[in-house]
Amino acid sequence: MKLLLILVIYGAALSVALGRRGFRSGFAGAPAVSGAGLAPGGRPGRLLVVGATGGTGRELVAQALERGHEVTAFVRDPAALRIEHPRLRVARGDVLDYASVEAAVRGQDAVLSALGHRRYFPPTRILSEGTRNLIRAMEAHGTRRFVCETSLGIGDSAGRMGLTYTLFVIPVILPFYYWDKLRQERLIAASRTSWVIVRPAALQNGAKRGVRRHGRGVGSWLGTVAIPRADVAAFMLDQLADDTYLGSAPGVA
Ligand SMILES: NC(=O)c1ccc[n+]([C@@H]2O[C@H](COP(=O)([O-])OP(=O)(O)OC[C@H]3O[C@@H](n4cnc5c(N)ncnc54)[C@H](OP(=O)(O)O)[C@@H]3O)[C@@H](O)[C@H]2O)c1
Repeated sequence: MKLLLILVIYGAALSVALGRRGFRSGFAGAPAVSGAGLAPGGRPGRLLVVGATGGTGRELVAQALERGHEVTAFVRDPAALRIEHPRLRVARGDVLDYASVEAAVRGQDAVLSALGHRRYFPPTRILSEGTRNLIRAMEAHGTRRFVCETSLGIGDSAGRMGLTYTLFVIPVILPFYYWDKLRQERLIAASRTSWVIVRPAALQNGAKRGVRRHGRGVGSWLGTVAIPRADVAAFMLDQLADDTYLGSAPGVA
């Protein structure tokens, strides 16, 4: 009973800290820096997909190709991608290696990131340092649009992954991971890119069902809501040509 009480207090305190220290967009409209993510004239553009071998990343690659974009998949292991297409190029690299990031960002119209990892228990900075490298390369090459997947549970979405996440999953399994996501979001918000942070609910595999809710107030304090990765990818690609959420962090579910 005492242990449970400690867990509840710790989980609630961490959620408050993720809320207070995290990025709060306020949805006040577009930031000073604008810039379309597509080629001139709204034509399909050259896109770099980071995390292309992951669940959301694969969807991003497949759907971007369907929409006619030229796609560069940024991967650590090209054999893990298993997608071939005449408009798909593979850039081998690691987000923690600036030289490989810089080479991949050069010449792109936009960057989409679905970076993630499973090294939950040691404190890591893979998300934030990788994103710092992406931003540095984008600013160096004048690549403006950056659409980055993070998660509900940070900033103005704190607590909205549901009670199980707030009181157990985030404080016990993912505290370092979420803290690094918080750093990642703050770096993006402070960048000179033309950015959209996309915060999904719990991710599922499977076919698109359509994003039913996006923007502020998505998710729930009680139950955990979910969204297929395919829908997150479609929403992220929509952000390339839509300024509605520029400079903000919409939730999606
Ligand atoms: N699971 C959920 O319910 C949930 C809910 C909300 C948000 N999210 C977040 O959504 C994002 C995407 O999740 P996901 O499950 O679709 O992705 P995922 O399957 O975990 O894939 C992550 C991708 O990041 C890549 N990556 C990791 N470290 C890298 C590095 N150092 N350099 C380059 N690439 C690297 C991985 O490459 P390798 O194949 O080489 O490892 C992989 O392609 C994550 O940030 C996750 O935390 C997840």
